[in-house]
Amino acid sequence: MDGIHGKVIIVTGASEGIGRALAIKLSRAGAKLMLAARNLERLQQVADELDGDVGIYACDVSDQAQCKALVAATLEQYGGLDILVNNAGITMWGRLDEMEDLAIYERMMQVNYLGAVYLTHAALPALKASKGSIATVASIAGLTGVPYRTGYAASKHAVIGFFDSLRIELKDDGIDITVICPDFVVTETHKRAIGTDGKPLGATPMQESKLMTAEQCAQLCLHAISHRQRLLITSLRGRLGRWFKLLVPSLIDRIADRAIRNRH
Ligand SMILES: NC(=O)c1ccc[n+]([C@@H]2O[C@H](COP(=O)([O-])OP(=O)(O)OC[C@H]3O[C@@H](n4cnc5c(N)ncnc54)[C@H](OP(=O)(O)O)[C@@H]3O)[C@@H](O)[C@H]2O)c1
Repeated sequence: MDGIHGKVIIVTGASEGIGRALAIKLSRAGAKLMLAARNLERLQQVADELDGDVGIYACDVSDQAQCKALVAATLEQYGGLDILVNNAGITMWGRLDEMEDLAIYERMMQVNYLGAVYLTHAALPALKASKGSIATVASIAGLTGVPYRTGYAASKHAVIGFFDSLRIELKDDGIDITVICPDFVVTETHKRAIGTDGKPLGATPMQESKLMTAEQCAQLCLHAISHRQRLLITSLRGRLGRWFKLLVPSLIDRIADRAIRNRH
């Protein structure tokens, strides 16, 4: 596939969900991959499914030194870097007035926001050399408010603000930035979401039969990344929502409220 074949690509959060599905599609399109997440065993299982060039690296993106080491390992293995996919992320489920422990608010900023900042900073010299691109999996929760996900939405708004600003800084460097905003997708993230007691929910609160699959989401991501697209919003309600938010913001609040109440 044009824009992907032969390219060296780092994908974070590649052991599960959207990152795993995207890694499989990128590999089939001829990319040379460096897959990252904390759990090396699960990464190895993904790598075992792939035929092409693939490396794996244990990395907690909330640790700046580990992000630098991930980029260094990629340069050592492949001699360059063309595309960085910041996908690793965590989420929450609960109203603020019911939260017993606010640690998850800090952790989401560290993983979802600072993780992308650290890795992007470490990757910039190599991306400037290759005139490469950066794709970051944010969320439609980065474009509008979502109840029960206050801290998550805040971290994704931060991500989008960061990359919209960085795009302007890098306009003369030949680096393109793609911001990806999925609507709900069936993945492990909903079971792992931290609840009001500070622990993972263990079971998804979503009606999964009504959600997009990780494979469908990854297919849309693949197209956006290969075309160095500026913004991908995966659902019609997400795309229309941006315009309605300007005209009738209270309508968007009601749609977000209903989406959480109906769990899809
Ligand atoms: N699923 C949805 O409905 C949805 C909707 C919109 C946006 N998104 C976004 O899409 C991205 C992927 O989510 P997903 O739904 O595919 O989630 P997932 O199935 O839970 O997968 C998350 C991935 O991130 C990795 N990860 C978590 N914390 C990490 C850390 N500190 N350092 C490095 N890797 C870490 C996990 O591996 P380890 O645990 O081994 O580290 C795993 O590979 C996230 O940014 C999420 O916010 C998801």
